[in-house]
This record gives sequence, C-alpha cells and structure tokens, in this order.
Amino acid sequence: VGIDNLSRGTRSNLDEALRHPAFHFFEADLADIASFRRIVANFGITTVWHIAANSDIPGGIADPNVDLRDTFQTTFNTLLVMREADVRRIAFASTSAVYGVHDEVLREDSGPLFPISNYGAMKLASEALISAAVESFLERAWIFRFPNVIGSRATHGIIFDLLKKLKANPPDLEVLGDGTQQKPYLHVSDLLDAMLIVHERGSDALNYFNIGPADEGTTVLNIAQAVLREASPLTPLRFTGGNRGWIGDVPKFRYSIEKIKRLGWQPKLTSTQAIDRAVVEICRQLCVESL
Ligand SMILES: NC(=O)c1ccc[n+]([C@@H]2O[C@H](COP(=O)([O-])OP(=O)(O)OC[C@H]3O[C@@H](n4cnc5c(N)ncnc54)[C@H](O)[C@@H]3O)[C@@H](O)[C@H]2O)c1
Repeated sequence: VGIDNLSRGTRSNLDEALRHPAFHFFEADLADIASFRRIVANFGITTVWHIAANSDIPGGIADPNVDLRDTFQTTFNTLLVMREADVRRIAFASTSAVYGVHDEVLREDSGPLFPISNYGAMKLASEALISAAVESFLERAWIFRFPNVIGSRATHGIIFDLLKKLKANPPDLEVLGDGTQQKPYLHVSDLLDAMLIVHERGSDALNYFNIGPADEGTTVLNIAQAVLREASPLTPLRFTGGNRGWIGDVPKFRYSIEKIKRLGWQPKLTSTQAIDRAVVEICRQLCVESL
C-alpha cells in the first residue's frame, strides 16, 4: 500500500509498481488524518515505511510551515494512526542533516545534534518522536540516515537541477556555491539494498544507521563537470560563490558506515561511480520527459 499526495512525487514514477496486482496506491495527504486512518484500517498493515517528507530544503527555509507540515506532521500523524491501528513497526527515512555541521567523521553517536535547516530540525524531531513511541507502543523501529541520494526517477537534487538548467540552453551553467562543497553520494540502488538489510537484520527495539558510500564523497565541481561531459561539454560553469549553495546547506561532511558494515552491508558504488551512473540515468529521464 502506497500513500503519497504527489506534491513532489509523480504518478509516472510508480508505473511499474502500479502494474503489480497486489499494490494499492492512494493519492492522499498524510495531514488528512481521516483518510489516512481509513487506508491503514482497511489493510492488514504490519510495518510502515515512512518516506514522505519535504524534499525542497531551501523551500523549507523560505516557509517554515513546509517542514512542520510535510517533514514533522507526517511523522506525527503516521505514529498516531499506527498506534490506533496497533501497527508496531516503522522504518523511517532520516538524513545526515540531523547532525548539523561537524568537522569530524559523522558516526551515529556524534553530537551535539544541532541541525542548520528546518528540514534537518524536523527530521531530528521525527527521530525523537519515534524514539518516544518505542517506549510506549512500537515494537521495533529502523531509522536510516541517508546521505545525498541520487539515481533514476529523480524529482530534485543537484544533478536534476543542473540538467534542468542546461535544458533551458543558457550561455553558461550556474552552480550554487563555489564548487568546493564535498559530500558523500549514494546511488538509490545501494540505498534500497541497505534499507532492506537493516530492516531484516536490525533487531534492537530502536535501530539507527548511517547509510553511505565508503569514501570521502565528491565535490560539487566534480558533479558539475560530470554533468557537462554527458550533456553539454562546451558550456562554461559559473559559480554563485560562497561555500554553501543555500541557507541550510551543510558544505562538507563525511560519514562513518562502520555500524552498518557490521550488519553485513557494503555499498557497491563509490560517490563518483554513483554520480556518473546517475548523470546518465537522469539525463535520459529528462530527455524522455521533454518528448
Ligand atoms: N534524496 C536525498 O538525497 C535524501 C537525503 C536524505 C533524506 N532523504 C529522505 O528520503 C525520503 C524520500 O525523499 P526523495 O528524495 O525521494 O524526495 P521526494 O520528494 O521524491 O519524495 C518524498 C515524497 O513525499 C511526498 N509527500 C510530501 N509531503 C506529503 C504529505 N503531506 N502527504 C503525503 N505525501 C507527501 C511527496 O509527494 C514525495 O513523493 C524523504 O523522507 C527525504 O527526507 C532524501
């Protein structure tokens, strides 16, 4: 059973799933508690995978209501409906943004946790709410702290944005920041693999894991160059300057994935390999969308 209000997702991204006879999709807002309740009550749901959130971080800075509603209230309502329907297992898509800015390699017990975006703040609050729910009614929770995730069927993100800008045929390609921002990038196929393994093997009441590639990440400059190589080799780059692309952008971070490796998961792709693959995939996707 899938629920999405399609505010940022698209129905066409679900084409393959919709062909499966056992899959049911509901276009509904998780803020609409009555229809959410009805959907959960009508199916024998045992685990909720709570993935819905705001994915426009600058948008959430411009209007703080966005992350309150789509990042936090979605978690609050999900837990409320789960408690009523006696659903006791939740898997939750969290983020590196809960850590805020740190120089050291981020481990699951790094702190203090002071996010610098409303999005990160509302994800951290969601994690806290899940932790509290483990004390009261949840039997098990799995929290996945994603890094930057890239790959096919993208709806946003750096590669998507750069390719969209290139499609408008500008004299140069605008890149937010000075290109030195450096972060780990994980291909969505590796992410799914990791989530399934954590769900299968994480046997504590509250399981929480960083998921990421096994490297120090790659720079925005490298990503912009990979995009140009694939789509428009002669277009020059133009940087807007500063080491942050937008308010709330964490300019650099590195992830420790030692904890998830102990569960037996290894990423297949490096950040650079993931970028190269995602550039081809998203380039193809945007060409098809324009037909
Ligand atoms: N992509 C990344 O790099 C990244 C990094 C860290 C965490 N995450 C997390 O992963 C999850 C998926 O993100 P994504 O990148 O695929 O973004 P996405 O925007 O494609 O997916 C989020 C989905 O949530 C839906 N949604 C939002 N508010 C809703 C509401 N009130 N009711 C019902 N549906 C609602 C949107 O329509 C969208 O389809 C999110 O929780 C996000 O915070 C993503």
